Amino acid sequence: MVNRKNDASTKQAAKRKLPCHLFLIGFMGCGKSSVSERLRKKLSARKIEMDQAIEEAEGMPITEIFSLHGEEYFRDLETCFIRDLKNSPPAVISCGGGAVIRPENVAMMREMGKIILLTASPESIYERVKKSSSRPLLNGNMNVDYIRSLMEARRARYEKAADLTISTDRKNIGQIANEIISHLT
Ligand code: S3P
Repeated sequence: MVNRKNDASTKQAAKRKLPCHLFLIGFMGCGKSSVSERLRKKLSARKIEMDQAIEEAEGMPITEIFSLHGEEYFRDLETCFIRDLKNSPPAVISCGGGAVIRPENVAMMREMGKIILLTASPESIYERVKKSSSRPLLNGNMNVDYIRSLMEARRARYEKAADLTISTDRKNIGQIANEIISHLT
């Protein structure tokens, strides 16, 4: 059954203009890109895919950036990208899964907007990413145990960064987007 009161307030919130950046963070495969795209539509907002923007700027896929220049170089690109967002109008930003590893990145995000953490179980993540070879950290490590251990290693950083945490397990993209919109004031 449709909750009409909630539905109406979600629509009302969606009509408001995005006042600041909305950063979607979380582990690889937690749904940041799909949820950002839905938020873009519902909020008539701009959307930025961080990984895609970095790939375009470097002229090569992330796997190649990692293999040619190493992970630290990629992390520097993430930091520069986030810093540059200070000069851009409010957008929904789908962040790379490791964007919160550096505390300075989180500090900048916090200054510029709201940080929303999407979570999912290691099993769900595995199901969503198992056929992909575009994530260098998972190539050669594509199994639930590795995903669980990397997720645990990052958990505190994700949780500390988040203004709002949304579990995505057993929810569709529309439900997740509405949940986020209903928390926007
Ligand atoms: C990474 C996540 C990836 C991408 C890169 C590193 C990470 O983004 O930035 O492969 O360290 O978690 P997605 O979370 O969009 O897959």
